[in-house]
Amino acid sequence: MTTSESKLSQTLAVLGISTAERVQSLFAEIRVRFDSEASRATDENSFKTFRDAWLARKSGVLTLITDNWLKPATPELKRAVGASLNDFRKHVDSQIAEREAALQAGAQSAASAKDRADLSLPGVIRPVGSHHLIRQVMQEIEDIFFSIGFSVAEGPEIETPYYNFEALNIPEFHPVRDDMDTFYLDLPKGAPGQLLLRTHTSPVQIHTMEKRQPPVRVIAPGKVYRRDNPDATHSFMFHQIEGLAVDTDITFCDFTGTIDYFIKKFFGENVKSRFRPSYFPFTEPSVEFDASCVFCGGSGTAKAGGTCSKCKGSGWIELFGAGMVDPAVYGFVNYDPKKVSGFAFGIGIDRLAMLKYGIDDIQVFFQNDVRFLKQFP
Ligand code: FA5
Repeated sequence: MTTSESKLSQTLAVLGISTAERVQSLFAEIRVRFDSEASRATDENSFKTFRDAWLARKSGVLTLITDNWLKPATPELKRAVGASLNDFRKHVDSQIAEREAALQAGAQSAASAKDRADLSLPGVIRPVGSHHLIRQVMQEIEDIFFSIGFSVAEGPEIETPYYNFEALNIPEFHPVRDDMDTFYLDLPKGAPGQLLLRTHTSPVQIHTMEKRQPPVRVIAPGKVYRRDNPDATHSFMFHQIEGLAVDTDITFCDFTGTIDYFIKKFFGENVKSRFRPSYFPFTEPSVEFDASCVFCGGSGTAKAGGTCSKCKGSGWIELFGAGMVDPAVYGFVNYDPKKVSGFAFGIGIDRLAMLKYGIDDIQVFFQNDVRFLKQFP
């Protein structure tokens, strides 16, 4: 026990102090002890112990001084003890408040130093992504049609049989449904009608004509689904871009001229186009468009000699189906077939991308192998 600590439990009379001068030197002694302990309270724990030792209500030093020195002091000394105690209490309060503030500020600056970014460290380099080749080709096709006045129309991927078939002049039991009657949704018992994954983008023709009066010039890109077994040219999910132009005076020449313009813009000005008769229930007449082979330049002979394997020596590559809109379709959308005419086409985007970029397996589009994707940044 230090001297001052033993003195704290005794009265001034017991300590033999009877003058104001001795009282002041006693307080000077206790102040030295306080200052020295304060200088050692440098962290949160030691500060708390120190603060309680001096200020605790029951047994803190200030309470002991009040109980043992002030209260039992003789009337002559009481004034001197009271004055010294007041001075000392002010000193204790201000020092403790100051130390507490300093400790808090220190803790805050330590925390913010920990959080501060070190600008000298190398940055995090995030890999930059790019559009998938299908998306790039889709945009290429869209841009060509935008340049001649077409705009984009959209329709749902989940369709009713009415939009996917009937309104396109494909009644139930029509043989053409065999290819397309594929993914139907399981619906709760009692649900009205059926729902299916659209097998082509042609239903968007109907949605568009239901909403708008001619003139109509739209393209409709999107996903379609068929129960085709996967191989190098077939996928159960693929992409099409539908085209539809309807107005009061659209001719077969406008139709073939538009498609020829598209084929030249997409594959190159030297590529020729041709059409052959075909059949779709919603176009009349219907055609298949071909382009002169982009691999052998239409010669049918491979650069290295021999037959071109891509066009099998014919010099032509099949592109997509199209035709003049069948007047029966206008009946489903309340257009007057005597007043309007138009054409429609349905391009398989995946197959077109394969032709243009020399890809011989459609499956690579959907395997997400970055070694493939990185080749088309
Ligand atoms: C149709 O889907 C018609 N709706 C196209 C059309 C529109 C004709 C407007 C007339 C007027 P088709 O079933 O031929 O037609 O498919 C169109 C294109 O989709 C094909 O030329 C081919 O490029 C692509 N395609 C068809 N099945 C698959 C498949 N399983 N995987 C990848 N591409 C396919």
